Amino acid sequence: MTDPRLDALLHAAPALRLKTDPADLEHYGRDWTRRWTPAPLAVALPATVEEVQAVVRWANGHGIAVVPSGGRTGLSGGAVAAHGELVLSLERMNQALDFNAVDRTLTVQAGMPLEAVHNAARKHGLVYPVDFAARGSCSIGGNIATNAGGIRVIRYGNTREWIAGLKLVTGTGELLELNRGLIKNSSGYDLRHLVIASEGTLGIVVEATLRLTDPPPPTNVMLLALPSFDVLMEVFGAFRARLQLEAFEFFTDRALHHVLAHGAQKPFDDVHPYYVVTEFAIGDEAKEAAAMAAFEDCMEHGWVSDGVISQSDAQAAQLWRLREGITEALARYKPYKNDVSVRISAMPAFLAETQALLGQAYPHFDVVWFGHIGDGNLHINVLKPDDVGDADFVVQCEQVTKLLAEALKRHQGSISAEHGIGLVKKGYLESTRSAEEIAVMRGIKQVLDPNGLMNPGKLFDT
Ligand code: FAD
Ligand code: MLT
Ligand code: ZN
Repeated sequence: MTDPRLDALLHAAPALRLKTDPADLEHYGRDWTRRWTPAPLAVALPATVEEVQAVVRWANGHGIAVVPSGGRTGLSGGAVAAHGELVLSLERMNQALDFNAVDRTLTVQAGMPLEAVHNAARKHGLVYPVDFAARGSCSIGGNIATNAGGIRVIRYGNTREWIAGLKLVTGTGELLELNRGLIKNSSGYDLRHLVIASEGTLGIVVEATLRLTDPPPPTNVMLLALPSFDVLMEVFGAFRARLQLEAFEFFTDRALHHVLAHGAQKPFDDVHPYYVVTEFAIGDEAKEAAAMAAFEDCMEHGWVSDGVISQSDAQAAQLWRLREGITEALARYKPYKNDVSVRISAMPAFLAETQALLGQAYPHFDVVWFGHIGDGNLHINVLKPDDVGDADFVVQCEQVTKLLAEALKRHQGSISAEHGIGLVKKGYLESTRSAEEIAVMRGIKQVLDPNGLMNPGKLFDT
């Protein structure tokens, strides 16, 4: 190493793995947003909690900002290092540490990929139910730092619900063990929940104890074609009233168009403007009859124009691909992503208003709608035309996001339902959080990270 600061780091943690090759700096310095040019000082890959602590203490000694880094599948720029920060990757801390059959918990290192957590839980006959398409690459630490949601929130809730305890290395290098897996613990502030969704701004999650649950009952997957947006919530109501829903997701014809272009199989001969993928418990005749009754009710009302139900696991996977393949299929268009939520009861009014607003604001862009409609969470992706420059495109989209943020404020929604604020949504935090709330957040950061070195500039400016 030629940089004396890095020499000092290796002196403090002699076994620490450090990367400084330009290709590594680029790889570890960005996430899925691809909007900022990566420029970290170096990438540290600790293997132990003690090494993480040593890195944070060194950072305080040298005034170097630290960007905690998981799988870098984030969509808000939270893991971006563009200003000479040290990237602290949890990649090597990726092991399951303990399974407790009585507590039904799995304790893992924070760098463990979500899919590896699923597999480890399954080995014990249980499931970790948070799930989404980035499962193979995202890490449990990143999921905690963003309070990730996904496709099964309607049944199981967000990541927050499944964190029985976690260990945090704070901005000063102290190790806090938060909640220790307890179900009941009324002994003051639950600091674990402050860390969840803190986007690496309070410290580094190094371990987590995850709750596991029973495997779901057998399920069926149904794809529904809808004639208009207005009936979406009616269809949701009809299915939710009769079935135990495991998922209820929607997407538009534009989304389907891109997924088909990316290799998926066409589900219907006809083109329909809107689609729903829903998964629900089956297993006995009553449940199967209820599913048919929901479908027929929707057909009779004219809310659904066609439908297909999975006859095998392979067909279920094919139907899911139509929804889960959207993000990958859109990536080449550098989409400007909106990830907004309102209460389910506010959804019909919000949808009507937003559709009108975006129809006027984006007449010339390809706007792709999809999302976790059963949770009140919409993803609105605006695709960059090839002949519009990157920066110009973002400027144009930001104008519309201002209007969207105002609509969200009126409907008391959130500018980030599940992706986090990061860099992308920082300018809009005030549409969702009051000035007083943000002041309290700053105060909390000041306590846990007095030198402001943990992921500075993300979530809010200090
Ligand atoms: P990163 O991108 O590495 O980091 C995200 C944030 O967490 C950053 O602020 C980072 O600093 C911080 N961080 C990471 N690790 C730690 C740690 N150990 N301690 C402290 N802070 C840390 N998200 C959803 O919620 N629902 C979805 O359905 C969904 N689907 C997706 C599908 C695709 C194809 C892709 C690419 C992304 C999707 N995402 C989804 C977004 C993303 O996968 C999640 O936000 C995920 O939780 C990020 O995990 P990560 O390990 O990649 O985190
Ligand atoms: C999804 O629901 O597919 C994810 O949140 C990813 C995205 O919004 O692109
Ligand atoms: Zn999502």
